[in-house]
Amino acid sequence: MKQIVLILMSLLTFSNPSKAQKQTADTDRPSDKKILVAYFSCTGTTEKVATAIAKETGGKLHRITPATAYTSADLDWNDKASRSSVEMADDKSRPALGGETIELKDYDVVFLGYPIWWDLCPRPVNTFLEKYDFAGKTVIPFATSGGSSITGSVKQLKRLYPKIEWEEGRLCNRSTKQVGDWVKQAIE
Ligand SMILES: Cc1cc2nc3c(=O)[nH]c(=O)nc-3n(C[C@H](O)[C@H](O)[C@H](O)COP(=O)(O)O)c2cc1C
Repeated sequence: MKQIVLILMSLLTFSNPSKAQKQTADTDRPSDKKILVAYFSCTGTTEKVATAIAKETGGKLHRITPATAYTSADLDWNDKASRSSVEMADDKSRPALGGETIELKDYDVVFLGYPIWWDLCPRPVNTFLEKYDFAGKTVIPFATSGGSSITGSVKQLKRLYPKIEWEEGRLCNRSTKQVGDWVKQAIE
């Protein structure tokens, strides 16, 4: 009897590699998907996260560049007349973009990063989403903030752009080292 149990146990061990072994093999395998990491950032915080995601995924980094850069006066949220305040108070504001254009058809998955402005994404991100045909693309939002969550901005993005396949968003306010595991899971 003891012998039968031992034989069964050894068969199980060899035919079924441990979960840990399997996970390592899966996680280490580079993704076949073509990845774009597009981000908007005025003071560099979101840019750092975007750079870490691009490094982790081997994706192409693309800066969403406004035609006219934001000055620090433009970013003054205490001033109701500042550029950012005026744009964010207007649902229809779509500031023009400059910078490079992209070939969106070359990518399967787009990580989309932005700072939270008034609980939403900055309007140039809307300009970007309306400039290209994102229908059917998988977009994974990520954001940085002074403490607000990403939830309100993602809710608005899903409502405005229902043809995009939105993945769960992620607030990346802590160390950029923490993006690693999340990013791998997100593109599995
Ligand atoms: C106009 C403006 C509005 C902002 N609104 C919010 C907000 O509603 N909630 C929040 O937590 N942080 C807010 N912030 C802080 C930014 O989200 C935060 O500093 C972000 O990390 C900046 O990213 P960046 O360096 O990539 O531009 C705001 C910043 C600006 C300039």
